[in-house]
Amino acid sequence: MKITIVGAGAVGASCAEYIAIKNFASEVVLLDIKEGYAEGKAMDLMQCASLNGFDTKITGVTSDYSKTAGSDIAVITSGIPRKPGMTREELIGINAGIVKTVSASLIEHSPNVIMIVVSNPMDTMTYLVHKTTDLPKNRIIGMGGALDSARFKYRLAEALEAPISDVDGMVLGGHSDKGMVPLTSHATRNSIKVSEFLSEDRLNQVAEDTKVGGATLTGLLGTSAWYAPGAAVSGLVQAIACDQKKIFPCSTYLEGEYGLNGLCIGVPVILGKDGIEKIVDVPLSDAEMAKMQESAEGVQKTNDLLEL
Ligand code: NAI
Repeated sequence: MKITIVGAGAVGASCAEYIAIKNFASEVVLLDIKEGYAEGKAMDLMQCASLNGFDTKITGVTSDYSKTAGSDIAVITSGIPRKPGMTREELIGINAGIVKTVSASLIEHSPNVIMIVVSNPMDTMTYLVHKTTDLPKNRIIGMGGALDSARFKYRLAEALEAPISDVDGMVLGGHSDKGMVPLTSHATRNSIKVSEFLSEDRLNQVAEDTKVGGATLTGLLGTSAWYAPGAAVSGLVQAIACDQKKIFPCSTYLEGEYGLNGLCIGVPVILGKDGIEKIVDVPLSDAEMAKMQESAEGVQKTNDLLEL
């Protein structure tokens, strides 16, 4: 199993580290445009191998896509992250150009690759890959919901004063502060609906804290987060590489599902060896459907800024 990660920055390197520690991939190639940077990150990570007990071979290259040839999975984390006060949508100008050229170069050397798009604004970047490449839609996956759901579970556990392993919950919709749709009515604590434990006001607060989860961290760190994003991407990669058939909310091209058409947005999907193997239809309340619709309108506005 060969995995390429383009962009050896904070998220890309964190993702490579989690993949290696989980020890399921034979080879990870890190590629970056900055001379020597991916090589340095790969060497540093390889020097963790004996300490952390993994056999994954990590190599780094500067812009040489021939070294990525035959990749089964490619992750795109190249592009600029947001600074405090910025929205993800403001990154479109620079990141659209990067994602377009990077995805084309990857496919040139790995025509059957499964591509995971991370660069922001992620739903629009996933749509861009859908529009500008010939990859079938099951092989184009946007990562956002897996991270947002992890942040939701963190906030739920905090409110419930429960261990995180006791809670479950999912965030659908666009990967943006306004567009996320945390499914509070479906969230559970050990199979019991969390509404049995938390007031409506407290649950609404959990949803709001989840939606600004990335912005809160950007305010604290001065740049966007990397540990949880890297861990979330590694979970998607592992589900595909090991054909786990796990459900994650991912951004995918919709053709009528959830009443939405012609855009990529977060919905629950089953991930296995073919990428997105099925879009799962979760029954949503009228209020949740309305939020999905509103979220889709936001994503569409950003998509309209693309020069295709
Ligand atoms: P970073 O600045 O640490 O790393 C980005 C790397 O991309 C840099 O090393 C840069 O040299 C490289 N790069 C830029 N243009 C390139 C090109 N044409 N080819 C190859 N490499 C290139 O940024 P960070 O924090 O790793 O974030 C990366 C992206 O991921 C950002 O757009 C950020 O907003 C996004 N992100 C998305 C998340 C999600 O849930 N979808 C979560 C966190 C970050």
